[in-house]
Amino acid sequence: MTRVAILASGTGSNAGALIDYFSGDSEVNISVVGSNRKAAGVFDIAEKAGIKSFRFSKDEMDSGKLLKDLKSQKVDWVLLCGFLLKIPSDILMGYKDRILNIHPSLLPKHGGKGMYGMNVHKAVQDSGSNESGLTIHKVSENYDEGDIVFQASVDISHCTSAEEIASKVLALEHQYYPRIAEAMIKD
Ligand code: GAR
Repeated sequence: MTRVAILASGTGSNAGALIDYFSGDSEVNISVVGSNRKAAGVFDIAEKAGIKSFRFSKDEMDSGKLLKDLKSQKVDWVLLCGFLLKIPSDILMGYKDRILNIHPSLLPKHGGKGMYGMNVHKAVQDSGSNESGLTIHKVSENYDEGDIVFQASVDISHCTSAEEIASKVLALEHQYYPRIAEAMIKD
């Protein structure tokens, strides 16, 4: 059984989609959910699903404690779902090519520091583009720059607000993140 940790800072809807998708899977187990934010919605989602969760500080992440905790829980893969802190190099080395992130735009467009959540969708709207989408990529030392594993685009030419773009992209994220993560993990 491959043990997976989800790290999330916010609402946790992608975490919920992954948990639902893998529930009952004979090869992949979402074993633990971690967050740096006390009020993260992902804690309720984990509790309802009976999945262990824990909170950690940025200091604990940067000082090696998070890596130690992930290893002691025998985690094999890490999936980021709206996780907003930069992953430190010890975790990148400890989980080389086994950390995926989802980003709500067609990278390299609208990525980088400060580009998360609604900031991304507002930037897409301001750009006047007719399409947006999602990117699933391996995590590297720079925000949103790791190898791209998958992208899907969506027509936003009729969207009149950043919120509308966000909801179109989020639906696509829920559809694809579990399947792409499964393909990568089971490969
Ligand atoms: C998602 O749209 C995800 O792509 C984005 O945060 C949202 C989290 O939503 N991630 C980033 O912007 C990373 N730069 P969720 O908490 O409902 O899954």
